[in-house]
Amino acid sequence: MLWISFVNLHPYSIDMTKLSVNINKIATIRNARGGNMPDVLKAAIDCEIFGAQGITVHPRPDERHIRYADVDEIRPLIRTEFNIEGNPIPQFIDMVLRIKPHQVTLVPDAHDVLTSNAGWDTIKHKDFLKQVINRFREAGIRTSIFVDPVEEMVRHAADTGTDRIELYTEAYARNYPLDREAAIRPYIDAALIAQESGLGLNAGHDLDLNNLWYFSRLVPGLLEVSIGHALVSDALYLGLEKTIQLYLNQLK
Ligand code: PXP
Repeated sequence: MLWISFVNLHPYSIDMTKLSVNINKIATIRNARGGNMPDVLKAAIDCEIFGAQGITVHPRPDERHIRYADVDEIRPLIRTEFNIEGNPIPQFIDMVLRIKPHQVTLVPDAHDVLTSNAGWDTIKHKDFLKQVINRFREAGIRTSIFVDPVEEMVRHAADTGTDRIELYTEAYARNYPLDREAAIRPYIDAALIAQESGLGLNAGHDLDLNNLWYFSRLVPGLLEVSIGHALVSDALYLGLEKTIQLYLNQLK
């Protein structure tokens, strides 16, 4: 049967990669004026109505975009998958354990960075990650850790007990216009190692309507992408509903 041979040829493309919309930038616009416009809670609900399969928030200690209080309010509204990203400082760990999202993504972002700019050193921080991940796993929360597409880092990620890794895609996005085959190579290799090590695979950072299709087509086993900056920027021109549809089309 044709369908059977398709399954054999493309074992990873049967389940569509999920789109989790990072709504931080919507909060950034709201915070610029101090009121409640745009309404971040409504945006989260609408993203789901428009087809997003998940909502991501990334509260930072200075609360310059999503605030800790927002996260409490968003949680009961989410019907798909709620992913909270952040640096596991004590305040963050307590919040995640209280809110119990479907997934927590641990990111080693320093206080003073504009955005996440590196994956974990899974050798140096292995013991710390093990402890934190264990607390989340005991609470029934799926864990993911942000890593660069570096073989050693992915192999050691498996020792932390994490369920998934999220590949940091900034380098892919930067190099895509220059040489997309070279840009994607480390990500395919990292994905294969993740698979070999029994790790689920997410990806994110700087993915957009130009580079997403190629990435999701070629990286095996990609379960989820989280996209914020480009998607919210595109929505200024196209509207949120159409933009989400366009991103979902890239993942088909
Ligand atoms: N993944 C992580 C760990 C991030 O920190 C961010 C940015 O907050 C993203 C994904 C999404 O990146 P972008 O906003 O560039 O789509």
